Amino acid sequence: MEKIIELKNVTKRFGGITALNKASLHVDQGEVVGLIGDNGAGKSTLIKTLVGVYGPDEGEIVIRGKKVFNWTALKARESGIETVFQDRALCPQQSIVWNIFMGKELRYPFGFVREKEQVKEANRLIREIGFTSKLIDAESPVGNLSGGERQGVAIARAIYNNAELIILDEPTNALSLNETQKVFEFVNNVKKSNRSVLFIGHNIYHVYDISDRFVILDRGEVVHQLNKEEIKSPEELMKLMRDTIKKH
Ligand SMILES: Nc1ncnc2c1ncn2[C@@H]1O[C@H](COP(=O)(O)OP(=O)(O)O)[C@@H](O)[C@H]1O
Ligand SMILES: [Mg+2]
Repeated sequence: MEKIIELKNVTKRFGGITALNKASLHVDQGEVVGLIGDNGAGKSTLIKTLVGVYGPDEGEIVIRGKKVFNWTALKARESGIETVFQDRALCPQQSIVWNIFMGKELRYPFGFVREKEQVKEANRLIREIGFTSKLIDAESPVGNLSGGERQGVAIARAIYNNAELIILDEPTNALSLNETQKVFEFVNNVKKSNRSVLFIGHNIYHVYDISDRFVILDRGEVVHQLNKEEIKSPEELMKLMRDTIKKH
């Protein structure tokens, strides 16, 4: 399977704090990787390094087999890596279609927005990722949507932007069970389209359900990388995490 992205022995320091210590991780095409770890373990630093917000102090970033230099957020996006941050807001007063196309509208050569086409495309995208309610269509305002559905709009936007790897930072925090289920369905549909997802969370049950593989971070170090077949239950994953932290 093709590796979309790989971090090799990446170290990132903030003054005296080593937020990442020789961390290595990869995401293959079409898989969902769950990144877990306690508060302060380095999860956000890891994804910010991966998407070019921070430059690593040491180590390599490899994209589809090629080592990259001077990695930036723009280059990451151009390489098909999109992040859906918890609170990087959609515009709730605006419609779903507006939020999906924001800044990248389909236009005629003389500049007018191709509104009908955008609505059609937005409807196709939200159906593809799993919006089933007849009450919602591309012209509905985002303000009318539930928390899970908003995540769905952000994912649809990432897909419209040609994302091959979508990074979700704690997407199910503060969501009800029902809403969490919706997000899982969106993630599963992303996977069905052979795209990849890096799913960050500290709710082990959520991460367990949705992931094909787990990466456990502890104090900046990747302490485990496991396939789902190696872990029989979320309880087992939880235990492994606890034991690791104790040993450290
Ligand atoms: N911009 C920053 N400046 C200084 N220290 C930071 C910065 N970002 C993160 N850290 C520190 O790095 C460590 C890892 O943080 P973070 O990556 O946010 O962990 P997580 O997302 O797993 O909770 C923490 O000790 C945190 O305080
Ligand atoms: Mg974080």
